[in-house]
Amino acid sequence: MEYKHQIKTLEQYNEAYKESIENPDSFWAQIAETFTWRKKWDSVLNWNFTEPKIEWFSGGKLNITENCIDRHLETMGNKPAIIWEPNNPDERTRVVTYSRLHKRVCQFAQVLKNNGVKKGDRVCIYMGMVPELAYAVLGCARIGAIHSVIFGGFSAQSIADRLVDAAAEYIVTCDGAYRGGKDIPLKDVIDDALIGNKTVKRVIVYTRTRTPVSMIKGRDVWWEDEMEYAETQVEKDNVVTMPATEMDAEDPLFILYTSGSTGKPKGVVHTCAGYMVWTYYTFINTFNYNQGDIHFCTADIGWITGHSYILYGPLSAGATSVLFEGIPTWPNAGRFWDIIEKYKINILYTAPTAIRSLMGFGLEPLEGKNLDSLKILGTVGEPINEEAWHWYDEHIGKKRCPIVDTWWQTETGGILITNLAGVTPAKPTYATLPMPGVDPVLVDENGQILEGGNVSGNLCIRSPWPSIIRTTWGDHERCRTTYFTTYPNLYFTGDGALRDENGFYRITGRVDDVLNVSGHRIGTAEVENAINMHAGVVESAVVAYPHDIKGQGIYAYVIFNGKHGDAEQTRKDINATVSRIIGAIARPDKIQFVPGLPKTRSGKIMRRILRKIAEGETSNLGDTTTLLDPGVVDEIAAGKI
Ligand code: WT7
Repeated sequence: MEYKHQIKTLEQYNEAYKESIENPDSFWAQIAETFTWRKKWDSVLNWNFTEPKIEWFSGGKLNITENCIDRHLETMGNKPAIIWEPNNPDERTRVVTYSRLHKRVCQFAQVLKNNGVKKGDRVCIYMGMVPELAYAVLGCARIGAIHSVIFGGFSAQSIADRLVDAAAEYIVTCDGAYRGGKDIPLKDVIDDALIGNKTVKRVIVYTRTRTPVSMIKGRDVWWEDEMEYAETQVEKDNVVTMPATEMDAEDPLFILYTSGSTGKPKGVVHTCAGYMVWTYYTFINTFNYNQGDIHFCTADIGWITGHSYILYGPLSAGATSVLFEGIPTWPNAGRFWDIIEKYKINILYTAPTAIRSLMGFGLEPLEGKNLDSLKILGTVGEPINEEAWHWYDEHIGKKRCPIVDTWWQTETGGILITNLAGVTPAKPTYATLPMPGVDPVLVDENGQILEGGNVSGNLCIRSPWPSIIRTTWGDHERCRTTYFTTYPNLYFTGDGALRDENGFYRITGRVDDVLNVSGHRIGTAEVENAINMHAGVVESAVVAYPHDIKGQGIYAYVIFNGKHGDAEQTRKDINATVSRIIGAIARPDKIQFVPGLPKTRSGKIMRRILRKIAEGETSNLGDTTTLLDPGVVDEIAAGKI
């Protein structure tokens, strides 16, 4: 496969960028031409940001799995599509070629059909990082079912809320998942999530850990049995046929829940054609992917990074993508380096939090590890600090691998601001330049557009790129008010950024009440709601503080009137409550018990003060005269932990 639209030089980037902004229709039409369509689109782009209404390739008909799998079969049937590295390095690797992937996806699509799943139905996927997770996701896409993958770290309560919000009738899960030294009982969590649920009709259970699970008659079925039967339906004389369902360009492909500044996560909706074109285009260009390269994105498929850069982006480009079940520090902190050596990885795409955590183990885990195969390094999910950037550059890339710092969001579907590996310049801690098709602006508080270099403001985008969020599931108004009303006619990212004299962007972090803990997005209101569920908690306020490894840590101020146990015990109980309500990823790192919270006369909590205290600033807290009880600030500062 030749990548006709791969940018090779800085001049080509400048040209492509200019063309994409001046003539978006013809620019994107040319790229879309390279895909397999059942029917060509009628118009490239129709949009307004007021409703918002955004349609790319409207009238076009296609199926994304034909583009990610079928079209590669003739020339690349035997090429590895997915290389699976198990949690336990002593277990056997599995290499899934494009033809094998085709067979399994067809088979699983047939399983879904056999179980009553139809186009447009929502299928919730709650699995560990096994190849079957890829088959489940792509099997849904094959028949036009809308997948909603939920990260394995979320609790039963979180799953229950998402099942209701999406009115999902089907679940695909595993008995359990291996992650480092732990076995996580996924089916158990699903069983808890289903207590009282009236909409789910079927749960398909893949066996991974062979942990005992309850299987409810009429509701739960085994993956293996279903696949065995489906095989007899889709395969005849060694030929696999399972027609893909024809989809409209703007039919929903998936829902992915993410946190915002309210207590309730929202279902971000992406659609078929625009998402496909964008993940492909950004994949081949950001990483300068060449045929034969082995791409290793360490994210979990439960997050958007895994959707876009383990599955859809690489597969649409006919690439080889590594799917890793485990964690970077198990059985030891050399695990990534072993994997790189074992598969001769060329592209490593990971998060700053992983880099910082591995940095903490020193250079010993790198000794004797051959990292010569690496050509390109990437980072994503949060701002990368200078120290981590240089460590990555020196000790992993050996100063010969470009580092791409890719800024984007669940809502953007794919990378929006990044340098292109080896093509456009890198600058440590800067995501640098926009992708072709992306028109960023910085605005001040009043929505005034800031021109020129050396300015900072809130980051917005002026016009749609193909994989922009289309709606929030079941609540279009929420999509409008969250992203399109803060600054009229602009998409508001929720991030602050600065632009240097060369037009390079540096993302400075969220400007709303969203935390970014180890690259995971969590709303402060969500954590507060969970803490407040604990008996004895009167009120709480959650803020971020700088954390050496996680980037941001969660600092909770809690007013507690319960009497049970000592403070340490109560902290553990509160943490257990948060784990139960959201999941372990949202547990506060620090809990300080306080006599009151700093509130204005109108009852608004002054988070600015709480953030300063959490950051370690106990004097210079700014103006506190508007507070109802300024004295409480000194008490809080004195009790800082
Ligand atoms: C938020 C989006 C991007 C996929 C994974 C996270 C932050 C993301 C960067 C970066 C600085 C970054 C932003 C953004 N972020 N990438 N390269 N530099 N910050 O997706 O969970 O939707 O989170 O992550 O704050 O808004 P997400």
